[in-house]
Amino acid sequence: MKRTKIIDCLNSKMTSDTILVKGWIRTKRDSKQCSFIEINDGSSLKNLQIIVDTSIKNYNNIKKLVTGSAIAVNGKIKASPGKGQKWELLAQSLEIIGEAPPNYPLQKKRHTDEFLRTISHLRPRTNKYGAMFRIRSELSYRIHAFFHELGFRYIHTPIITGSDCEGAGELFQVTTLDIANADKLQVDFSRDFFGKEAFLTVSGQLAVEMFALSLGEVYTFGPTFRAENSNTRRHAAEFWMVEPEMAFYDLEDTMALAENFIKTITNDIMNSCKDDIELFAKFVNKQLTNTLDTIVQNDFIRISYTDAVDLLIKSGKKFDYEISYGKDLQAEHERYLAENYFKKPVIVYNYPKAIKPFYMRLNDDQTTVAAMDILVPGIGEIIGGSQREERSDILLEQMKEKGIQPDDYSWYLESRAYGSVPHSGFGLGLERFLMLITGVQNIRDVIPFPRTPKQLLF
Ligand code: 4AD
Ligand code: MG
Repeated sequence: MKRTKIIDCLNSKMTSDTILVKGWIRTKRDSKQCSFIEINDGSSLKNLQIIVDTSIKNYNNIKKLVTGSAIAVNGKIKASPGKGQKWELLAQSLEIIGEAPPNYPLQKKRHTDEFLRTISHLRPRTNKYGAMFRIRSELSYRIHAFFHELGFRYIHTPIITGSDCEGAGELFQVTTLDIANADKLQVDFSRDFFGKEAFLTVSGQLAVEMFALSLGEVYTFGPTFRAENSNTRRHAAEFWMVEPEMAFYDLEDTMALAENFIKTITNDIMNSCKDDIELFAKFVNKQLTNTLDTIVQNDFIRISYTDAVDLLIKSGKKFDYEISYGKDLQAEHERYLAENYFKKPVIVYNYPKAIKPFYMRLNDDQTTVAAMDILVPGIGEIIGGSQREERSDILLEQMKEKGIQPDDYSWYLESRAYGSVPHSGFGLGLERFLMLITGVQNIRDVIPFPRTPKQLLF
């Protein structure tokens, strides 16, 4: 018989059908006449209650089963008289697939996030992390759907790269040289795999720009890597970024797209992951529903960097990092703007060129660039983007100012020599979006197997 997933079983309108379900035991309680076993197969937050009569074959072994064990049950589905569930399954036969011992780490009590991080291989079996990773999957799908429906093409940009897109030097090196014996070895990268230094990408942007300048509206969506040694709750060494890039868009068009993107997808997830989102609203973040409604229902605030800095200075608030014109906004400043002052998402645009990468388009004032960051309550920056410098001479000038060797970027510069056009794009960190949507405070809890400084479980 074909297995029925619990989600389909619970949504079914049929009664007294015989079905086969498989899953892991969440709870079990025995009475004189029968055992009540709740199983979950990961297809939804909800468990299915199984009634096992003591007369069933094998009952003595079934009785010994504990939480975490895997079973297969054949039985008749019927309306449940108990509250909390619509259907239950009357077992006709039960097969033990894989037993768990009594010291299975995930017992009924609520575990801390910190403890669960130490068993990231098991935590998706809990309600909270099951919900998290179903939402993460749905979120990725909705991102693809959003761009697909707008006619964007999905481009697979390389993960191994020879260039530092953000120019921040936070690169992981990729090598086949015998690094363990590097002291004896003259490190000569011409002998390395690629004949030169290679790194894991920090962003697919520069590569995807080449496709915007040929296919028009494109995006890349994949893993990115940053060796920034910042042990914060919103930085990971390996994270996923979605980066749309559009020919003939200016900064204004890009802000509009980014705002529409966040709103549409937030709304999609609220509708398609109702049960899972409800868990986070109930047990993780009481403000969640409010936050999500605010995102979907309001226009985002737009404010220039200069005005934002003014506002922060005038706020009279004591920040750990003092803010002044020319300095980058820190997380605490970003959060003050989005969380305390405007209480909704904020787009800050036109940053000083000195604190932004070489590829951003120089504004007419010669001191700011056409950059924009989107800041959201609880997190701060979730999106970074810009209009790109399409003028060869200014781009070259910017590279020199930042100490970047034009020879290393000759391919990039050629795109400005051959039919250059205005174009723009942005990058959204998938994990930060997921933190926003679930109200979870730590990036380590939205990644299946998080990678952060000094943390690499396997
Ligand atoms: O602002 P960033 O550095 O922008 C870029 O990389 C551009 N090349 C994007 C583009 O225009 N195509 O990063 C974009 C976003 C941030 O706003 C943040 O959400 C996320 O990526 N991000 C991180 N997320 C988790 N951990 C980290 N260490 C992150 N660094 C950036
Ligand atoms: Mg940024």
